[in-house]
Amino acid sequence: MALMREIREFPVPRNAIALWWLGQSGYIFKSQEGTLTSVDMYLTDSCNGLQPGIDLSRKVPVLIPPEELDVDIYTCTHNHQDHTDPFTIRGLRNKDTAQFVGPHPSCEVFRAQGVESGRIVPAWPARRLEFRDVSMTGAFALPTDDTDLNHMGFVYEFGGGPKIYVTGDTDFSELLFSVEKQKPDIVITVINGGFNNLSHWEAADVCGRIKPKLAIPCHYDMFPDNSVDPKQFRATLSLRAPGVSYQELVHGKPYVFWK
Ligand SMILES: [Fe+2]
Repeated sequence: MALMREIREFPVPRNAIALWWLGQSGYIFKSQEGTLTSVDMYLTDSCNGLQPGIDLSRKVPVLIPPEELDVDIYTCTHNHQDHTDPFTIRGLRNKDTAQFVGPHPSCEVFRAQGVESGRIVPAWPARRLEFRDVSMTGAFALPTDDTDLNHMGFVYEFGGGPKIYVTGDTDFSELLFSVEKQKPDIVITVINGGFNNLSHWEAADVCGRIKPKLAIPCHYDMFPDNSVDPKQFRATLSLRAPGVSYQELVHGKPYVFWK
């Protein structure tokens, strides 16, 4: 069965959340009521050849083609192409049914790719937004270079179910610890260390301060020249964040977390 259909039909138990990883920082979250929220969908090979001398060809297959993606809330953490991909957005067939949420530069891309203004909602750190049974609060992120200075993370809350903090691409800052106040159950964190992102060591320190139940590494799998072994994060997590469980997701396979 096509993955999008599988996700639409997947039953989510009470007080739980189901997650699917599509590669890099791309996830689909399904709430108990069936609302689908995506973050940082990269469903093309558009980064291939973007930076001469760096191999950014796609390693993970496209598990859902853009025209099949059918989510209720489409969120982006910042305007780099592996997070706000204009080619993915251009190819979406459900532009008229989803809400599009992201910092202003991502909103500009939504608009340029044919999303109508009424469906675009700007987000920024500390702004709280609600759609159906999903609420999301913008979190601080430190830009990784001067090509985009509007990075952010999100803390998603699914009804009374679990809370998930997605770091987005971010350099290290103690301000990342401020998410501790929101008590997320899961932290999904970059670990690649390249291009000024958190290293596995810094990511483990962030988890040690925020103290989620579970940490999921991301952004290490997509590009040949920006890959690391997530087991390094598993090791540092056990040293720097004892008590936080480690979970590696398998691309395209559901993972259910109970609060
Ligand atoms: Fe990235």
